[in-house]
Amino acid sequence: MNFPKDFKWGTATASYQIEGAVHEDGRGESIWDRFSRTPGKVLNGHTGDVACNHYHLYKEDVAIMKELGVDSYRFSIAWPRIYPNGTGQINRKGLDFYKRLVEELLEKGIEPAATLYHWDLPQALEDKGGWLKRDTARYFQDYAGAMFRELGDTVKQWITLNEPWCSAFLGYGNGVHAPGKSDFNSHLHAAHHLLLAHGLALQAYRELNLKSEVGITLNLAPQYPASDSAQDQAAARKADGFQNRWYLDPLFRGFYPQDMPEFLAAVAPVIQPGDFDLISGAVDFLGINYYSRSVVRSDGQGGYEALPPQGPVTHMGWEVYPQGLYDLLVRVHEDYGPIPLYITENGAAYPDQVEQGRVHDPERTAYLQQHFAQATKLIEAGVPLKGFYVWSLLDNFEWAFGYERRFGIVYVDFETQERIIKDSGRWYQSFLKGLARG
Ligand code: FCB
Repeated sequence: MNFPKDFKWGTATASYQIEGAVHEDGRGESIWDRFSRTPGKVLNGHTGDVACNHYHLYKEDVAIMKELGVDSYRFSIAWPRIYPNGTGQINRKGLDFYKRLVEELLEKGIEPAATLYHWDLPQALEDKGGWLKRDTARYFQDYAGAMFRELGDTVKQWITLNEPWCSAFLGYGNGVHAPGKSDFNSHLHAAHHLLLAHGLALQAYRELNLKSEVGITLNLAPQYPASDSAQDQAAARKADGFQNRWYLDPLFRGFYPQDMPEFLAAVAPVIQPGDFDLISGAVDFLGINYYSRSVVRSDGQGGYEALPPQGPVTHMGWEVYPQGLYDLLVRVHEDYGPIPLYITENGAAYPDQVEQGRVHDPERTAYLQQHFAQATKLIEAGVPLKGFYVWSLLDNFEWAFGYERRFGIVYVDFETQERIIKDSGRWYQSFLKGLARG
């Protein structure tokens, strides 16, 4: 496989999924602490209290990354470590953790890529209405500005938000994620405030004239019509509007999709003049998290429904469909480009087991191989793809599935905190070694 010399290979994690240490050094409560403690919300009642204990084991984890040979590490900053109540005075001890982590990465020659919001909203802000409130976007701007000033160019890539669709829809639309609210229309208010938060953070970033890059990460999934019929095609377009265009259009075109009247009516009350100028401010890159696709058909009543997976699935039940990565990025490039793209997450969960100190996970290796192959094709096709981050470095707290879904290329024994590089991690390591590097 051929990749440009400056192509960034990395691996990704998120604060609540790996850090643990939820009561240490003044960290405040997050919506995920509250949600995971609410009976019935997370499989087996798992919480992120300890997770991978990365807060204490970060040096070991950075050493593993060094051994794997990655160029970059995408992690996230826990807002409630910095501002335990979401706003006010910086909690220095919380910030110091990220300073230590960044220092350790730089020392090992690994570029830090930081996400500012990977879903752990301070509970104190949720108590005031969370993302349903416009103020939350302002508080986010303050927090983001403080992080840009404190960490600045030591972080090479800044990502404002991870997957606003998930924060908005899963958090406020169907309640599967924290804070567990379920009201379809108001989830669009949350989405708007998240997009606004991104725009305001971008504004704060530009004021500082930093040399690093700033962007946002979306979870996009191509929606294929089940047939050529006009009904199924319209169904796929609707699904695409809900999942993809509702975020891409405001970010890159400065308005919401005009073919979605019910959505437009629901969001109208929270839009204020000037919002779209902020939301569509220029980003340096777009991060895309890609895992799978959907095939949808008309439900016969103007709506749509997804068909069951059409091929092999992972432990999440998500169809393995590498071609979807290609189709998706070509489409994003054509419809919204030119804009540098990063695959900020891609990977697979399988029910791994340790056998004599090894973890044999050929399906995960195959999954990565197939998706890397699509990345080469994209570059050949002229799509400005600049990097690829494998999700995830470590097995971790997979949100509503707790520790039951393992995405790591490194196995974690959650009893002993022992790490074992899986065969897929070894494969990634030899892949990286084999690349011609400049
Ligand atoms: C993404 C999330 C990430 C992880 C993967 C499997 O939606 O960004 O935290 O849970 O899915």
